[in-house]
Amino acid sequence: MIVITAPTSTIGRILVNDLLADDLLDSGARLRLVARDPQRLDPEVRNHPGVEVVKGSHGDPAVIDQACAGAEAVFWLAPDEPTAPSLQAAYVDFTRPACDAFARHGVQRVVAISALGRGTSLGERAGMVTASLAMCDLIAASGVAFRAVACPSFMHNLLNHAKAIKEKNMFFMMAAPDLKNPTVATRDIAATAARLLLDPSWNGSGQVACLGPENLSPNDMAQIISDVLGTEVGYQQLPGAALKDRLTGFGMSDAMAQGMVDMFDAKNQGLDLAEPRTAESTTPTAFRQWCEEVLKPAVAAA
Ligand SMILES: NC(=O)c1ccc[n+]([C@@H]2O[C@H](COP(=O)([O-])OP(=O)(O)OC[C@H]3O[C@@H](n4cnc5c(N)ncnc54)[C@H](OP(=O)(O)O)[C@@H]3O)[C@@H](O)[C@H]2O)c1
Repeated sequence: MIVITAPTSTIGRILVNDLLADDLLDSGARLRLVARDPQRLDPEVRNHPGVEVVKGSHGDPAVIDQACAGAEAVFWLAPDEPTAPSLQAAYVDFTRPACDAFARHGVQRVVAISALGRGTSLGERAGMVTASLAMCDLIAASGVAFRAVACPSFMHNLLNHAKAIKEKNMFFMMAAPDLKNPTVATRDIAATAARLLLDPSWNGSGQVACLGPENLSPNDMAQIISDVLGTEVGYQQLPGAALKDRLTGFGMSDAMAQGMVDMFDAKNQGLDLAEPRTAESTTPTAFRQWCEEVLKPAVAAA
């Protein structure tokens, strides 16, 4: 039994489809999905014979306890809860009941989504990233075999800018315009998580980085987006204070908005460049391909 938390997330949806497409279900393995609202799952997934659904939040002790009974492996994704009172509450406290359940039910393997920055001084003052790394430490301390899928910023984040790209031919982030950083497609993160969940041979704790195939600056991205959309699209860097105002204006708590600013500040100082690029950490989906397949239709629909 493999438990999938946040199966309605961007990564979780792809992961569930990848696992259902694999022949694991032929060998008798099953998936248990933990969803607050099972109606948000695709009907083919919800009604699949190899799938069980546990209704509720995976941060709820009773829900995650029920989900972990008899489970061999767990996929863990802590939501970026925008109204959380603190980063500790959003990532570490949210994960604590699960760690108790992993130990209580003898779960063997946990694979979690996290961020780059482990082992760096920048990672100790990087807002959301620091909290995510603390979450991973908590999971590893529960005694399970553990792998963090360590990610740079997702290509997917640009979907939040589809309307601005369509209406203003611009996108706005806090990232330094010429700093080349890795960026990764969620499909490649999900593929890495699926591989780890299906492989019983690893143990101990560690991380597997997913760096995409190349490092790109926001200005590089603007050039690629312009090529793909066939119209000039520019990039403008937002100061941290302006980003924070914008996020709190959308209803984000002060703590989460500050966590976002601190994270981008650390990224601008090289947080995402410490992890060496290797054949294993280089994931296949190029930014141009992602723009053609995902961003272009999203901008058209915005
Ligand atoms: N974006 C980045 O650049 C980046 C980089 C590195 C790491 N990460 C990490 O990646 C993760 C986000 O992945 P994603 O983009 O795939 O997620 P996502 O699409 O934002 O989905 C969030 C999921 O969390 C669920 N959820 C929200 N609040 C919940 C709650 N209180 N209890 C239970 N479930 C709740 C939502 O489900 P329902 O609403 O359907 O219940 C949804 O399935 C975060 O842990 C983030 O820190 C992100």
